[in-house]
Amino acid sequence: MSLEAIIHGTFIDAPTARSLRVRENVFVVVTNNGVIGQICTDESHIREEFKGLRIIRLAKTQVIVPGLVDLHIHAPQFKQLGTKTDIPLMEWLQKYTFPAESAFSSSAHASNIYPKLLSHLLKNGTTTAVLYGSNHLSATKILAESCHKAGIRAFVGKTCADMLTPDYYVETTEGSLKDTEEFVKWCYEKWGSGKEGKVRPVVTPRFIPTCSKELLKGLGDIAQKYDCFVQSHAAESVDEEALVESQHSGRRDVEIYQESGLLGNKTILAHCCRLKDSEAGVMEKVGATVVSCPWSNILFARATVPIPYYNSTFPNLKIGLGTDIAGGFGTMLDNMRTAILQDRIDSFATVDRSSTSTDLDIKKENWTVDFKYAFHLATASGAKALGMEDMIGTFEEGMRFDALQLDLGLDGENGEDGRAMRFTRFGNESVEELFEKWVTTGDDRNVVRVWVDGVDVLSS
Ligand code: GUN
Ligand code: FE
Repeated sequence: MSLEAIIHGTFIDAPTARSLRVRENVFVVVTNNGVIGQICTDESHIREEFKGLRIIRLAKTQVIVPGLVDLHIHAPQFKQLGTKTDIPLMEWLQKYTFPAESAFSSSAHASNIYPKLLSHLLKNGTTTAVLYGSNHLSATKILAESCHKAGIRAFVGKTCADMLTPDYYVETTEGSLKDTEEFVKWCYEKWGSGKEGKVRPVVTPRFIPTCSKELLKGLGDIAQKYDCFVQSHAAESVDEEALVESQHSGRRDVEIYQESGLLGNKTILAHCCRLKDSEAGVMEKVGATVVSCPWSNILFARATVPIPYYNSTFPNLKIGLGTDIAGGFGTMLDNMRTAILQDRIDSFATVDRSSTSTDLDIKKENWTVDFKYAFHLATASGAKALGMEDMIGTFEEGMRFDALQLDLGLDGENGEDGRAMRFTRFGNESVEELFEKWVTTGDDRNVVRVWVDGVDVLSS
C-alpha cells in the first residue's frame, strides 16, 4: 500500500553534480499510486483533491532524500561479501566466484540467499538495483520474484557464459540464448515491457572473455528484438584487458560489444577503468553508461574512473555508481565516499592523463567530487543511466516516490528507535551539514524508512 499522505519537512536532492537542492518546510503529496502529486511551500496551496490527506510532520533532524541507484551488483556473490578478495580478478573468478555462483543450481539456495541480499540493499538505502543473477534460469527467476516480493525496483539478468568457465558452470551457446530469451519474455509477461515495470529483464553477457562471438551476436539480437537493457563489464583491469586483446587479435571490449549489437543507449558497462578516450567517445555517442564501482575498482583493478574528467570532456556520457557486490564489499554510501577519495588521486592526471605532474595549481579545478557530486551520481545520474530521470532520482511533481527518510540525530542524539548514531550531533549544524555528515560518516542506522513507489519496503 502506498503511503497516501502529505509529508511536511525537509527534502534534499541533487539534480546536477553541483547543485544540492535543500527544500525546508515543504509539503510533498504522495498519492495512493506512489506518485508525487504536488510539492508546495504553503499548506494553503495544497490542491483540493489532496486536502484531507493525513499530514506527516518530520522532526527538524529528519530529512527525505531520493533512494539510491546501484547500477552493478552480482546477486549470487552476496554470501562471500567481505571475504575472499585477496587475489587478482581472473584468479578470483576461478578460485572463489564460479564455485559460489554454481551453487545457485539449487533453487533452495537461491530462495535462501536472494531475499537476504535484497534486505541488505534496502536497509542501506538502495531502492533501484541492477543485478546479475547466476547462469541458471530458474535461480534467476527466483531472484526476479524475490525483487518483486521485496518491493525493490530492479533490473535483473541471467548471466551468460559459454566458454572459459569451468565445466561445472559453463553453458552451451544455444542454451544460454534460449534461457535468456525465455527470461526476458517471462519478465515482460509478469511485469510488462515498459518503464513502469518494477522488475525488468537485462541481457547479460558476463564479459567478453567468457562469451563466444556467436553468443554475443545472439544476445545482441535478443536485446534489439525485445528492446531491453544490456549489462556487462568493460575495460576493467590489466589482466582482463590483456585476455580480451589476446582472444580477439588486439581488439577491445567496446568495439566488440558494438559489432555484436550490444552497445546502445540501454547498455550499462561496469568498471571502464581502462577505457581509451576514443571508446568513451563512442559510448557517449551511442548513449551507453559507464558504471564506476570505486571500491571494487581500487581493490581489484588498482584503478579508478576519472569521473570529473569524463563529465567535462564527454558531457553527454552517462555515468553512475555501482557496488559490484561482492568484488567490492562496500555499500553505496561507501562507494560515494570512495568516489570522493579516488578523485583526489585522479585529479593529478585529468588534464593530461598520461602526465605524472603533481602540480595542484593547474589541476585544482578538477578537485570536484564532493559529497554533493557523489550523491548526485548515486541518485539522479543513476536514474538517467536507466532512462528514468523523469521517474526517480530527484523529487518533482509527477515522479515516483522512491525515497529514504533519514534520521540525522533527534535531540536525544539517538535515533528514532533508540539506536545509537554513527556521528555525533552538536545541535547547531544546518540541515545541509547534517546531510553531509550522513554522506561522509553515516550508515544504515540513519535510514529509518525506505519507500519504493510510495510503499514502505522496510517494514512491509
Ligand atoms: N568480470 C567478469 N565477471 C566478473 C565479476 O563477477 N566481478 C567483477 N568485478 N568483474 C568480473
Ligand atoms: Fe562486476
